[in-house]
Amino acid sequence: MTDAPLTAAAAREAIHRELARVYIGPASVVDLLLTALLAPGHALLEGVPGVAKTTLAKAFSTTLGCDFRRLQFTPDMLPADITGSYILNLRDNDFVLRRGPIFAHVVLGDEINRAPAKTQSALLEAMQERQVTIEGETLALPDPFVVLATQNPLEQEGVYPLPEAQVDRFLMKLVMGYPSPADEVKMLATYDHPRPPVQPVLDPASIKALRAAAEAVHVSEAMQVYIVALARHTRDHRRVRLGASPRASLALMRAAKARALLDGRDAVLPDHVRALATPVFAHRLVMTPEAELDGVEGADVVRDALERVRYRGPADR
Ligand SMILES: Nc1ncnc2c1ncn2[C@@H]1O[C@H](COP(=O)(O)OP(=O)(O)OP(=O)(O)O)[C@@H](O)[C@H]1O
Ligand SMILES: [Mg+2]
Repeated sequence: MTDAPLTAAAAREAIHRELARVYIGPASVVDLLLTALLAPGHALLEGVPGVAKTTLAKAFSTTLGCDFRRLQFTPDMLPADITGSYILNLRDNDFVLRRGPIFAHVVLGDEINRAPAKTQSALLEAMQERQVTIEGETLALPDPFVVLATQNPLEQEGVYPLPEAQVDRFLMKLVMGYPSPADEVKMLATYDHPRPPVQPVLDPASIKALRAAAEAVHVSEAMQVYIVALARHTRDHRRVRLGASPRASLALMRAAKARALLDGRDAVLPDHVRALATPVFAHRLVMTPEAELDGVEGADVVRDALERVRYRGPADR
């Protein structure tokens, strides 16, 4: 007898339950991680130190039930520390491939902006192409292959901002803020309680099945027109130097499909698009120098787009 396939709604509920053991915070953050997983795509978690970025990314990785590696980025890290390299096997006097930690289903790139650009790009190339090249030989990465990365905001000392052209390898950027007072009190009150360890909910096969189900979610033409209008609004915006690309429009559509699936819907609704426009678009926008000086950010432009661009389609429900 085989188990019935896990529905998206059941997976979502179980993952929320597991993560609640270690992360006390808005459910929306967990939903965004799940949405990125199924879209499918990679997620970047950004926030000041001590807001549980690493805690959440590690626990979420555990629930995926896949082989998992954590890569702690440091200033002296080299690309080969990620991808691997050929090493001399003295017994046979031969070179053998030592696969790097990137060869896992789920890779946590912790504090990614602590490594120099060359090392970051080894990770970003792997994310884009799901393969790595080591001394001329191209090797495929496993499927699914998911990168969760964390970074602190860029003002800090000793960090290397991710190159603008590469940050869009991440389907989403999740900005993690401070917990609400009530959540923070709850965290203090429960921190020394023994907690059962986080348990796996999914596995590689169920992730692939859920991704296929997300792919099959319907998107109407009116919804596609809405997504493109949002992207175009950011391109034409006077505060923006580089707006959302067609790749970004596609990312928003795929994320909205994944969100609809998690919501138990077989078609994307305008609210799915609205809920994802900021995490999918904001980090890809490059502001004009004047806007930067004024402190205008990508998220402000996306908010403006959401206010001004109307969805014109059947039943906004
Ligand atoms: N919302 C929260 N729920 C539960 N624990 C939390 C929360 N916020 C912070 N903590 C606790 O605070 C500590 C710091 O968390 P963590 O190391 O994950 O933060 P971080 O955001 O990765 O920080 P850094 O940027 O310094 O790496 C952990 O012990 C974690 O359990
Ligand atoms: Mg951390």
